[in-house]
Amino acid sequence: MNPRISDWRDRRVWVIGASTGIGAETARMLLGLGARVALSARQVDALHGVAAGHAHARVLPLDVTQHAQVLQARDVLVNEWQGIDLVLIVAGAYSEMRADSFDMEAVDRLLDVNLRGVFHCIDAALPVVLQQPGSGIGIVSSVAGLSGLPRALAYGPTKAALINLAESLYFDLRPRGNAVYLINPGFVETPATAVNTFVMPGLISATEAATHIVRGIERGTFHIHFPRGFTNWLRFARVLPYRWYFWLIHKVTGL
Ligand SMILES: NC(=O)c1ccc[n+]([C@@H]2O[C@H](COP(=O)([O-])OP(=O)(O)OC[C@H]3O[C@@H](n4cnc5c(N)ncnc54)[C@H](OP(=O)(O)O)[C@@H]3O)[C@@H](O)[C@H]2O)c1
Repeated sequence: MNPRISDWRDRRVWVIGASTGIGAETARMLLGLGARVALSARQVDALHGVAAGHAHARVLPLDVTQHAQVLQARDVLVNEWQGIDLVLIVAGAYSEMRADSFDMEAVDRLLDVNLRGVFHCIDAALPVVLQQPGSGIGIVSSVAGLSGLPRALAYGPTKAALINLAESLYFDLRPRGNAVYLINPGFVETPATAVNTFVMPGLISATEAATHIVRGIERGTFHIHFPRGFTNWLRFARVLPYRWYFWLIHKVTGL
């Protein structure tokens, strides 16, 4: 559904959310494959840790909730690189929430990072991408955005919106020769999920997640989701009639 990529050498990739977890591992992998990678997030030391030993890495700290910072970073990069081939928006915040622990401050935080922050990145990426056929945008959402799940009262809706955003972008970008990737991970072992106290089905490492992302982009896949056993099960569940869907999820989670 997107053009294939057979060689990453000298591809200009901007990974936003590259300091830890999935973004850091994906950035490391792309650097290893010879891409030029700009690393963005707030934790400057962690970004330098990812960049260490890679001459093609460029550390570009920013906070996605700060629109001006994102636009400024984009300008710096375009000035240095004369273009960007792929913008990977990985940045995201996570916290569990149920109705009896509803917390509007936490909702605002998730909306600011996961939704408004991603729109800031889209706003920065689009003018560059639209002028560069063959370039693309990847958005990391979550299988938690596929359908409503217990504990995901605030996180789930932000990720559902990103799925819709990627689908809508595809209609506009693909006919112009650009690529759009919707990346929906299942459970991945990262600092974000380290707080989870429940057993995470199908848990994989951040390195495995990065491999799925990089291979998916190479194949030109629009919907990159993993691990397949878990994500396909959820994709099946979401098309069931609600009566069965609610029963099944309750049966499996006990919630
Ligand atoms: N782990 C999972 O099981 C899982 C499953 C599905 C989807 N995801 C999604 O995958 C993405 C990466 O998550 P992860 O699990 O790898 O967690 P993580 O290790 O906590 O990584 C989150 C990344 O987002 C960055 N970030 C957060 N707030 C930011 C801000 N305001 N400005 C700029 N960067 C910001 C963090 O960097 P700084 O803190 O340095 O800013 C970090 O690089 C997220 O979008 C998450 O929702 C994760």
